[in-house]
Amino acid sequence: MAIPLFDIHSGLASLRDRLIESAATTIDSGAFILGPEVAAFEDEFAAYLGAEHVVGVANGTDALTIALRAMGVGPGDDVVVPSFTFYASAESIPPTGARPVFCDVDPDTMMVTPETVRAALTPATKAVIAVHLFGNVAPVREIEALGVPVLEDAAQAAGSLGPDGRPGSLGTAATFSFFPSKNLGCLGDGGAIVTRDPEVAAMARALRFHGSHDQVTWEHVGYNSRLDALQAGFLRILLTQLDGWADGRRQAAARYERAGLGEHVALPVPTDESGPAWHLYVIRSPTSIGSQGR
Ligand SMILES: Cc1ncc(COP(=O)(O)O)c(C=O)c1O
Repeated sequence: MAIPLFDIHSGLASLRDRLIESAATTIDSGAFILGPEVAAFEDEFAAYLGAEHVVGVANGTDALTIALRAMGVGPGDDVVVPSFTFYASAESIPPTGARPVFCDVDPDTMMVTPETVRAALTPATKAVIAVHLFGNVAPVREIEALGVPVLEDAAQAAGSLGPDGRPGSLGTAATFSFFPSKNLGCLGDGGAIVTRDPEVAAMARALRFHGSHDQVTWEHVGYNSRLDALQAGFLRILLTQLDGWADGRRQAAARYERAGLGEHVALPVPTDESGPAWHLYVIRSPTSIGSQGR
């Protein structure tokens, strides 16, 4: 039986009319860049996460670079990042002028740990990127206890639950990707920066708009990296489904477990007291599945 890695249509089918209605509203409004739809989504996503500020940007990679710069990362700094992640987690660092310093992950949870981060700290470490890879929840509080600010890369963890709150509300700042295949995916590219720090939020808002706080004076060399109103309108609808979808992912994982998959391969291990909304349910096997025959 062929199982597609990702089915773009099934989640959207029942929402089609609402999505088209939202697109029509935005088309009629004529407000396509930022504007009230983006502001409304930012407020609703902040409330969902239990966070203070959400800043919508063009994608999850820009979100990381802008968040790092808003946290004060720049030339001469080191940023610790796991070597086991999607490329963008590390790719986002050099554009700030800082240097990526790679750390290991725990092979069972696939998360960074205080120990793996401590081994990578240097006198120039300005921040740690804790990646909630596959939707598992990295131990952000324990890493912060090392005395370094944490930027959560929560691109794969929308809908996950942790003992201290939702990923995205745990570190100094966090970033999300709304790439269509993500747990909360829009109908194009999109991303967001989340933070409890008003200064980080203000700087991120300026950097997404060419480095201007007021769109009259231009204080920083920034980016043209804004969330579109169309995507924000879609995301407002999709956000209402996120918890249901995340529960479905958790139930699918539990079903694999009950069915005994763990007797054949190593299953991913959730971190303590977490409820991952498995973006990907990645198993490990010493033998290639393809070579086992049928
Ligand atoms: C862990 C992680 N970080 C960052 C990104 C980058 O997000 P985007 O593709 O929206 O730029 C992704 C997307 O695949 C990701 O999986």
